[in-house]
Amino acid sequence: MKLMVVGGGGREHAIIKKLKENPAVETIFALPGNGGIAADATCVPIGATDLDGIVAFAKENAIDFAVVAPDDPLVLGCVDRLEELGIPAFGPKANAAIIEGSKVFSKNLMKTYGIPTAAYEVFDDAAKALEYVKTAALPLVVKADGLALGKGVLICETREQAIDAVDSIMNDHKFGKSGDQIVVEEFLTGPEVSVLCFTDGEALAPMVSSMDHKRAHDGDKGLNTGGMGTVAPNPYYTDEVATVCMDTIFLPTIRAMKQEGRPFKGCLYFGLMLTPNGPKVIEYNCRFGDPETQVVLPLLESDLLTVMQACVNGTLSDTEVRFSKGSAACVIIASGGYPESYQKGFVLHGLDENGGAEGVTVYHAGTALKDGALVNAGGRVLGVTGTGDTLQAALDKAYAAVDTIGFEGSFFRRDIGAKALAAK
Ligand code: AMP
Ligand code: GLY
Repeated sequence: MKLMVVGGGGREHAIIKKLKENPAVETIFALPGNGGIAADATCVPIGATDLDGIVAFAKENAIDFAVVAPDDPLVLGCVDRLEELGIPAFGPKANAAIIEGSKVFSKNLMKTYGIPTAAYEVFDDAAKALEYVKTAALPLVVKADGLALGKGVLICETREQAIDAVDSIMNDHKFGKSGDQIVVEEFLTGPEVSVLCFTDGEALAPMVSSMDHKRAHDGDKGLNTGGMGTVAPNPYYTDEVATVCMDTIFLPTIRAMKQEGRPFKGCLYFGLMLTPNGPKVIEYNCRFGDPETQVVLPLLESDLLTVMQACVNGTLSDTEVRFSKGSAACVIIASGGYPESYQKGFVLHGLDENGGAEGVTVYHAGTALKDGALVNAGGRVLGVTGTGDTLQAALDKAYAAVDTIGFEGSFFRRDIGAKALAAK
C-alpha cells in the first residue's frame, strides 16, 4: 500500500513510525515531513495547507490511504477534497473539524447538548466585550474564536489584563480574523487531562490518557508553548473518572455532532479539566495532540492502519483498540528562545548514539537536513520518548537520552512527569 501523511512535526513522525509496523505498507509519503522524518518516509516539499498540491500529488501517485494530521488542512477541507477523488482519508471533514476551528461553535454545541464546560459569553462587538469584562468575576479567560497557533487563549487575573486581552484580539486584530468573535469564560481549576479518541462517527475508542506540560520552563513557569513534554497514562484519570467522561462528555459529543449533521470521523482530542464539580471540557481538537501522540502511539498494541481504516469505514465497533499497561514519557528539546524568536541552522549532536537505545525513540519535530547534517529548523526540535513498565522507568530512559543530545542554545524541561509522579 501507498500511504500519504500530511504534516511535518513530531506528531506526524510518531504516526509514520507506527503505520510502518504494518507489513502491507510499502511506501509512506510525508507532505512536507522534515529532516528526521526523511529517514522513515519519502518527504515531498508540499506544504500542509497547500490543498491543491496535496490533492494533485495524491491523484498522481495513486495513494491508497491518507492521514491528515494538522488542524489547518482539516479545517480547510483537505479530507473532503481527498474523498471527492475516492481516496480514503483519516480525519474529520471541514464541517466536523469546526469543533476545533471555532470555539464559539464548540461552546454553543456543549451548551445545547448539556456537555459540561466552563460558563461563558460570546461577543462579536469589542465595546460590548469591554463593558462585560469591566465587571465580570476574576480571573477570567478570553479566547479568540478561530485557530491561533495555540496562542489564542489569555488567562486574565486582573481587570487590566482582561481589558488588554479584548483590545488586542478585537481592536488590534492580534490573531487576524480568528478574533472577530471571542469567548469570555469562567476560570476553572483542577488537574488537566488529554484524552485522544478514535471515532468513526458512531463508535468511540479512547486512547490511553496523557498529561501535557504547556509552559516553557520548569515549575510551570514561562510562556505557554505547544507542549514541552507529555506522560501517559495520566494518573488523575482513574477508571472512575474515565466512566464519567465517557457518559457525560465523549459519547454525548459524538452523538451531538451526528445530530448536527456533522458526523466526526478521525481522532477527537478532549482537553479536560477535573474540577471539584466533575470533569469539564476545556477544549476540543479535531486531531491528534502534539506531543501527546508521541506518548500515546508508542503504547498502542493494535495495528494503527487497521484502526484508522475502521474509523474511515465505520467499522470501529468491530475493531480491537488495545494499549499496553506500560508508561511513556516524552521530553521536548527546543530551540533557545522558543516560544519567542530563536535561531535556526545549528547542527544536532548526540543523535546517533542515543536514537537507538532500547525503549527510546527520538521523534523529529523541527529538523532539516543541511549539507548532510541535521540542524534545528523550528521551535520544538525533537521529542525524546522513553517507554517502560512504570512512569519512573520511562522518564529515566527519556532523560538519559535527552542528556546527551543537543545543539547550540537548546533547552528542555527537567520536570516532565514530576506532577504525575507526585499524584500517585
Ligand atoms: P486551550 O488552547 O483552549 O487548550 O487553552 C490553553 C490552556 O489554557 C489550557 O490548557 C488551560 O491550561 C488553560 N485554560 C483554558 N481555558 C481555561 C479555563 N476556562 N479555566 C482555566 N484554565 C483554562
Ligand atoms: N499539546 C496540545 C495540542 O496538541 O493541542
